[in-house]
Amino acid sequence: MDTLDAIRSRRSVRSYDPSVQISEEDQQILFEHALLSPTSFNIQNWRFIVVKDPEQRAQIREIGWGQPQLTEASLLVVLAADLKAWSKDTERYWVNATKETAEMLVSSIKKFYQDNPELERDEAMRSVGIAAQTLMLAATSLGYDTCPMVGYDPDELAKIINLPDDHVLGMIVVIGKKAQDAFPRGGQLPLDEVVITDSF
Ligand SMILES: Cc1cc2nc3c(=O)[nH]c(=O)nc-3n(C[C@H](O)[C@H](O)[C@H](O)COP(=O)(O)O)c2cc1C
Repeated sequence: MDTLDAIRSRRSVRSYDPSVQISEEDQQILFEHALLSPTSFNIQNWRFIVVKDPEQRAQIREIGWGQPQLTEASLLVVLAADLKAWSKDTERYWVNATKETAEMLVSSIKKFYQDNPELERDEAMRSVGIAAQTLMLAATSLGYDTCPMVGYDPDELAKIINLPDDHVLGMIVVIGKKAQDAFPRGGQLPLDEVVITDSF
């Protein structure tokens, strides 16, 4: 599917056919493409927690306002981020660079994030947002439907997936095949309200 078609046809679907299974091969394709999402300094701070255990899925639905897609969609992926990814074996983010370039980048990364928790959190949300869209567009082009979600109790979700202290939750993305069409689009703002030339 053409990228522009995928962007246009991706909609937030709330009703899924629970009998659909996404093959291991398709799951591999989805995550291999999500992995190509850009991150600042290539720190790859996202983590994709694929919740397969039906009991955990049921718990997530309970703490997720009872939203049916949390148990009915074929795949439930929690997108989280490691706030400290920048400091963990930083060299591995630049294994393909020359030694000089890698050393320069590693040193820049450490200076950039050191003692800046606000930046760590901003980076987590930027990376997760981009990766979520990559995952959803990849799923769309494979013929699946998706829904991004933040309608859940984050403290409870963190407990269910045993989120480490130095990680944060971004959002959930569910993936599957729709049982019902998405609602008609809510309505898009006029371009001249959201596209600003040069300055406000
Ligand atoms: C970060 C985020 C969180 C969302 N959370 C939920 C959610 O918990 N439940 C839900 O049904 N839809 C959720 N949505 C879907 C939005 O309602 C939807 O994206 C919006 O209405 C635009 O519709 P579209 O995605 O079909 O274009 C969420 C979307 C985003 C981006």
